[in-house]
Amino acid sequence: MAPAADGRCASLRVMIDHVGKPIALIGLMGSGKSAVAREIGERLGTSVADLDALIESEEGRPIARLFEREGEPWFRRREGVALDQALGAGARVIACGGGIVLSAAHCRVLRERCWTVWLEVAPAEAAARLAGETEARPLLAGADPAARLAELLDARAPRYAATADLRVDTSGRAPGAIADEIIAAWRGAV
Ligand code: S3P
Repeated sequence: MAPAADGRCASLRVMIDHVGKPIALIGLMGSGKSAVAREIGERLGTSVADLDALIESEEGRPIARLFEREGEPWFRRREGVALDQALGAGARVIACGGGIVLSAAHCRVLRERCWTVWLEVAPAEAAARLAGETEARPLLAGADPAARLAELLDARAPRYAATADLRVDTSGRAPGAIADEIIAAWRGAV
């Protein structure tokens, strides 16, 4: 096909690039990935995979216990396996754990095989959302959650930015409203 001056080739390429790709959500703990994934799944009437929940159910232990018993490097490899499993099972919406971007290989899978959305949140708001749940999150246990989340965001922001097709500010917003914005952008991108 000859390149069209009106940009039709470019938009066809964008379409081919997005059609069939599941929506993957990345971002800090407390950014709302699981809740927003559920809302998107309900609105699109489609399957949702939550990688932390998948790992916990297959391993028969909570994430905090797995970190303790197996160590973080094991958990990071296991996250990659869970991502492959979700993709292989045809999940259309995938909520990733906050640290999925620590592996360059996982970032590549997200870039190539998913339409990936970074849910942005300020560390203080994420800490407020996670009040009472930090013991379940090994990287926050025993720390000042807002300070620890700020450190994690500093370290991970370049990876989140480089991996995402879309960034959405979640500050002060309900999961349903965020889901609506993502679906509208996803439809516009296709
Ligand atoms: C982690 C985030 C958690 C979980 C684990 C490690 C991280 O998932 O995978 O505790 O490194 O940011 P959520 O982002 O769903 O809380």
